[in-house]
Amino acid sequence: MTGAGRVGVIVVAAGSGSRLGASVPKAFVPLAGVPLLGHALRGVLSCTTASEVVVVAPAAHRGDAEVLAEGVCRELGSSVPVTVVVGGAERGDSVAAGLAVLGEAVEIVLVHDAARCLTPVAVFDRVVAAVAGGSAAVVPGTAVVDTIKQVDAGGFVVGTPDRSALRAVQTPQGFRREVLERAHAVSSDATDDAGLVERLGERVLVVEGDPRALKVTTPADLETATRLLAETL
Ligand code: CTP
Ligand code: MG
Repeated sequence: MTGAGRVGVIVVAAGSGSRLGASVPKAFVPLAGVPLLGHALRGVLSCTTASEVVVVAPAAHRGDAEVLAEGVCRELGSSVPVTVVVGGAERGDSVAAGLAVLGEAVEIVLVHDAARCLTPVAVFDRVVAAVAGGSAAVVPGTAVVDTIKQVDAGGFVVGTPDRSALRAVQTPQGFRREVLERAHAVSSDATDDAGLVERLGERVLVVEGDPRALKVTTPADLETATRLLAETL
Protein backbone atom coordinates (compact mmCIF):
# COMPACT_ATOMS: atom_id res chain seq x y z
CA MET A 1 0.00 0.00 0.00
CA THR A 2 1.51 3.34 -1.05
CA GLY A 3 2.88 5.37 1.85
CA ALA A 4 1.78 2.76 4.39
CA GLY A 5 5.16 2.01 5.93
CA ARG A 6 5.62 -1.11 7.96
CA VAL A 7 2.69 -2.10 10.13
CA GLY A 8 3.30 -3.50 13.61
CA VAL A 9 0.44 -5.08 15.56
CA ILE A 10 0.49 -5.18 19.36
CA VAL A 11 -1.94 -7.82 20.68
CA VAL A 12 -2.60 -7.19 24.36
CA ALA A 13 -3.35 -10.46 26.14
CA ALA A 14 -1.90 -9.91 29.63
CA GLY A 15 -5.14 -9.31 31.55
CA SER A 16 -6.46 -11.73 34.14
CA GLY A 17 -10.06 -11.75 32.96
CA SER A 18 -11.56 -11.17 36.40
CA ARG A 19 -15.06 -10.54 35.01
CA LEU A 20 -14.96 -13.77 33.03
CA GLY A 21 -13.87 -15.62 36.17
CA ALA A 22 -12.16 -18.59 34.48
CA SER A 23 -9.30 -20.57 36.06
CA VAL A 24 -6.82 -19.30 33.44
CA PRO A 25 -6.21 -15.74 32.15
CA LYS A 26 -8.87 -14.72 29.61
CA ALA A 27 -6.63 -14.92 26.52
CA PHE A 28 -6.07 -18.63 27.27
CA VAL A 29 -9.73 -19.54 27.79
CA PRO A 30 -10.84 -21.86 24.97
CA LEU A 31 -13.49 -20.94 22.42
CA ALA A 32 -14.44 -24.05 20.41
CA GLY A 33 -11.22 -25.66 21.67
CA VAL A 34 -8.86 -22.83 20.70
CA PRO A 35 -7.70 -20.16 23.19
CA LEU A 36 -9.06 -16.65 22.54
CA LEU A 37 -5.50 -15.54 21.76
CA GLY A 38 -5.25 -18.23 19.07
CA HIS A 39 -8.40 -16.91 17.37
CA ALA A 40 -7.12 -13.33 17.68
CA LEU A 41 -3.77 -14.29 16.11
CA ARG A 42 -5.52 -16.03 13.23
CA GLY A 43 -7.21 -12.72 12.45
CA VAL A 44 -4.07 -10.63 12.86
CA LEU A 45 -1.88 -12.97 10.81
CA SER A 46 -4.51 -13.22 8.06
CA CYS A 47 -4.18 -9.46 7.60
CA THR A 48 -1.79 -9.06 4.67
CA THR A 49 -0.54 -5.63 5.78
CA ALA A 50 0.89 -6.81 9.13
CA SER A 51 4.71 -6.85 9.00
CA GLU A 52 5.35 -7.85 12.59
CA VAL A 53 3.34 -8.83 15.65
CA VAL A 54 4.03 -8.39 19.35
CA VAL A 55 1.95 -10.45 21.79
CA VAL A 56 1.83 -9.09 25.33
CA ALA A 57 1.17 -12.00 27.69
CA PRO A 58 0.90 -12.65 31.43
CA ALA A 59 4.29 -13.58 32.94
CA ALA A 60 3.17 -17.13 33.77
CA HIS A 61 1.93 -17.74 30.21
CA ARG A 62 4.72 -16.32 28.09
CA GLY A 63 5.76 -19.78 26.88
CA ASP A 64 2.16 -20.77 26.16
CA ALA A 65 1.76 -17.65 24.03
CA GLU A 66 4.91 -18.51 22.08
CA VAL A 67 3.69 -22.05 21.38
CA LEU A 68 0.28 -20.73 20.33
CA ALA A 69 1.81 -18.14 17.97
CA GLU A 70 4.08 -20.76 16.38
CA GLY A 71 1.07 -23.00 15.81
CA VAL A 72 -1.00 -20.26 14.15
CA CYS A 73 1.94 -19.19 11.93
CA ARG A 74 2.39 -22.83 10.84
CA GLU A 75 -1.35 -23.28 10.21
CA LEU A 76 -1.53 -20.14 8.07
CA GLY A 77 1.88 -20.54 6.44
CA SER A 78 2.79 -17.10 7.79
CA SER A 79 6.39 -15.95 8.11
CA VAL A 80 5.47 -12.72 9.90
CA PRO A 81 7.70 -12.48 13.00
CA VAL A 82 5.84 -12.76 16.32
CA THR A 83 7.54 -11.62 19.53
CA VAL A 84 6.08 -12.36 22.96
CA VAL A 85 6.70 -9.99 25.88
CA VAL A 86 5.33 -9.84 29.41
CA GLY A 87 2.63 -7.27 30.22
CA GLY A 88 2.00 -4.93 33.12
CA ALA A 89 -0.58 -4.28 35.83
CA GLU A 90 -2.91 -2.17 33.68
CA ARG A 91 -3.83 -2.45 30.01
CA GLY A 92 -1.91 0.73 29.24
CA ASP A 93 1.25 -0.72 30.82
CA SER A 94 0.89 -3.78 28.58
CA VAL A 95 0.56 -1.59 25.47
CA ALA A 96 3.67 0.32 26.53
CA ALA A 97 5.57 -2.98 26.94
CA GLY A 98 4.62 -3.92 23.38
CA LEU A 99 5.53 -0.50 21.98
CA ALA A 100 8.98 -0.79 23.57
CA VAL A 101 9.97 -3.81 21.44
CA LEU A 102 8.53 -2.85 18.04
CA GLY A 103 11.09 -2.93 15.25
CA GLU A 104 12.60 0.37 14.15
CA ALA A 105 11.06 0.22 10.66
CA VAL A 106 7.48 0.15 11.97
CA GLU A 107 5.63 3.37 11.09
CA ILE A 108 2.03 2.34 11.71
CA VAL A 109 0.99 0.63 14.95
CA LEU A 110 -2.23 -1.25 15.54
CA VAL A 111 -3.19 -2.02 19.13
CA HIS A 112 -5.60 -4.93 19.41
CA ASP A 113 -7.33 -6.64 22.35
CA ALA A 114 -6.88 -10.43 22.32
CA ALA A 115 -10.33 -10.47 23.91
CA ARG A 116 -11.79 -9.15 20.60
CA CYS A 117 -10.80 -12.48 19.18
CA LEU A 118 -13.28 -12.69 16.28
CA THR A 119 -12.55 -9.28 14.71
CA PRO A 120 -12.87 -9.69 10.92
CA VAL A 121 -9.82 -8.96 8.76
CA ALA A 122 -11.84 -6.25 6.96
CA VAL A 123 -11.78 -4.16 10.15
CA PHE A 124 -7.96 -4.37 10.31
CA ASP A 125 -7.79 -3.40 6.65
CA ARG A 126 -10.10 -0.37 7.10
CA VAL A 127 -8.04 0.91 10.02
CA VAL A 128 -4.68 0.45 8.26
CA ALA A 129 -6.02 2.07 5.08
CA ALA A 130 -7.20 5.14 6.99
CA VAL A 131 -3.85 5.58 8.80
CA ALA A 132 -1.93 5.00 5.57
CA GLY A 133 -4.25 7.56 3.97
CA GLY A 134 -3.06 10.26 6.34
CA SER A 135 -5.04 10.00 9.60
CA ALA A 136 -2.85 10.04 12.71
CA ALA A 137 -5.27 7.97 14.78
CA VAL A 138 -8.12 5.70 13.68
CA VAL A 139 -10.58 3.60 15.69
CA PRO A 140 -13.33 1.25 14.56
CA GLY A 141 -16.73 2.04 16.05
CA THR A 142 -20.38 1.10 15.78
CA ALA A 143 -23.56 3.11 16.27
CA VAL A 144 -25.01 2.94 19.78
CA VAL A 145 -28.47 1.37 20.05
CA ASP A 146 -29.29 2.21 23.67
CA THR A 147 -29.94 5.75 24.86
CA ILE A 148 -26.93 6.65 27.04
CA LYS A 149 -27.33 8.68 30.24
CA GLN A 150 -24.56 10.51 32.04
CA VAL A 151 -24.97 10.22 35.82
CA ASP A 152 -23.43 11.84 38.89
CA ALA A 153 -21.86 10.07 41.88
CA GLY A 154 -25.30 9.67 43.44
CA GLY A 155 -26.73 7.93 40.39
CA PHE A 156 -28.77 10.92 39.22
CA VAL A 157 -28.91 11.69 35.53
CA VAL A 158 -27.06 14.85 34.58
CA GLY A 159 -27.42 14.59 30.83
CA THR A 160 -28.53 12.66 27.77
CA PRO A 161 -26.00 12.93 24.93
CA ASP A 162 -27.41 12.89 21.41
CA ARG A 163 -27.30 9.19 20.54
CA SER A 164 -26.72 9.78 16.85
CA ALA A 165 -23.35 11.37 17.73
CA LEU A 166 -22.17 8.42 19.89
CA ARG A 167 -20.04 5.44 18.82
CA ALA A 168 -19.04 2.33 20.77
CA VAL A 169 -15.38 1.88 19.89
CA GLN A 170 -13.45 -1.32 19.38
CA THR A 171 -9.96 -2.46 18.43
CA PRO A 172 -7.70 -2.64 16.42
CA GLN A 173 -6.95 1.03 16.97
CA GLY A 174 -4.38 2.35 14.51
CA PHE A 175 -1.85 5.14 14.88
CA ARG A 176 1.11 6.75 13.27
CA ARG A 177 3.79 5.32 15.53
CA GLU A 178 5.18 8.71 16.49
CA VAL A 179 1.76 9.87 17.74
CA LEU A 180 1.13 6.77 19.87
CA GLU A 181 4.63 6.95 21.36
CA ARG A 182 4.16 10.64 22.19
CA ALA A 183 0.84 9.81 23.88
CA HIS A 184 2.32 6.98 25.97
CA ALA A 185 5.28 9.18 26.95
CA VAL A 186 2.77 11.44 28.77
CA SER A 187 0.66 8.68 30.35
CA SER A 188 -0.53 5.14 29.65
CA ASP A 189 -3.57 5.53 31.87
CA ALA A 190 -6.75 5.22 29.79
CA THR A 191 -9.20 2.49 28.83
CA ASP A 192 -8.18 2.83 25.19
CA ASP A 193 -5.20 4.22 23.31
CA ALA A 194 -7.24 6.73 21.33
CA GLY A 195 -8.11 8.34 24.68
CA LEU A 196 -4.41 9.06 25.26
CA VAL A 197 -4.02 10.49 21.78
CA GLU A 198 -7.10 12.72 22.24
CA ARG A 199 -5.38 14.31 25.27
CA LEU A 200 -2.56 15.39 22.95
CA GLY A 201 -5.13 17.30 20.92
CA GLU A 202 -4.74 14.96 17.93
CA ARG A 203 -7.83 14.20 15.86
CA VAL A 204 -9.07 10.60 16.01
CA LEU A 205 -11.09 9.26 13.07
CA VAL A 206 -13.80 6.62 13.60
CA VAL A 207 -14.24 4.09 10.79
CA GLU A 208 -16.90 1.39 10.64
CA GLY A 209 -16.44 -1.37 13.21
CA ASP A 210 -18.15 -4.76 13.29
CA PRO A 211 -20.37 -6.56 15.82
CA ARG A 212 -18.03 -9.56 15.56
CA ALA A 213 -15.28 -7.42 17.11
CA LEU A 214 -17.09 -7.68 20.46
CA LYS A 215 -14.86 -7.88 23.52
CA VAL A 216 -15.28 -11.14 25.39
CA THR A 217 -15.70 -9.84 28.94
CA THR A 218 -18.34 -11.96 30.71
CA PRO A 219 -19.44 -15.63 30.45
CA ALA A 220 -22.43 -14.41 28.38
CA ASP A 221 -20.00 -12.83 25.88
CA LEU A 222 -18.21 -16.16 25.58
CA GLU A 223 -21.54 -17.76 24.65
CA THR A 224 -22.18 -15.01 22.08
CA ALA A 225 -18.70 -15.52 20.61
CA THR A 226 -19.26 -19.29 20.42
CA ARG A 227 -22.46 -18.66 18.44
CA LEU A 228 -20.78 -16.09 16.15
CA LEU A 229 -17.92 -18.48 15.46
CA ALA A 230 -20.33 -21.30 14.58
CA GLU A 231 -22.11 -18.94 12.15
CA THR A 232 -18.87 -18.05 10.34
CA LEU A 233 -17.66 -21.65 9.94
N1 CTP B 1 -4.93 -6.43 29.12
C1 CTP B 1 -3.55 -6.51 29.19
N2 CTP B 1 -2.91 -6.17 30.36
C2 CTP B 1 -3.62 -5.80 31.43
C3 CTP B 1 -5.03 -5.71 31.36
C4 CTP B 1 -5.66 -6.03 30.17
O1 CTP B 1 -2.88 -6.88 28.22
N3 CTP B 1 -2.97 -5.50 32.56
C5 CTP B 1 -5.60 -6.84 27.86
C6 CTP B 1 -6.53 -8.03 28.09
O2 CTP B 1 -5.76 -9.25 28.02
C7 CTP B 1 -7.54 -7.87 26.98
C8 CTP B 1 -7.55 -6.37 26.71
O3 CTP B 1 -6.44 -5.81 27.39
O4 CTP B 1 -7.19 -8.57 25.79
C9 CTP B 1 -8.85 -5.72 27.16
O5 CTP B 1 -8.94 -5.78 28.57
P1 CTP B 1 -10.14 -6.46 29.38
O6 CTP B 1 -11.19 -6.94 28.46
O7 CTP B 1 -10.50 -5.57 30.52
O8 CTP B 1 -9.41 -7.80 29.94
P2 CTP B 1 -9.01 -8.16 31.43
O9 CTP B 1 -8.41 -6.97 32.10
O10 CTP B 1 -8.22 -9.39 31.36
O11 CTP B 1 -10.44 -8.49 32.06
P3 CTP B 1 -11.06 -7.95 33.45
O12 CTP B 1 -11.04 -6.43 33.34
O13 CTP B 1 -12.41 -8.54 33.51
O14 CTP B 1 -10.13 -8.44 34.54
MG1 MG C 1 -9.57 -5.16 32.40
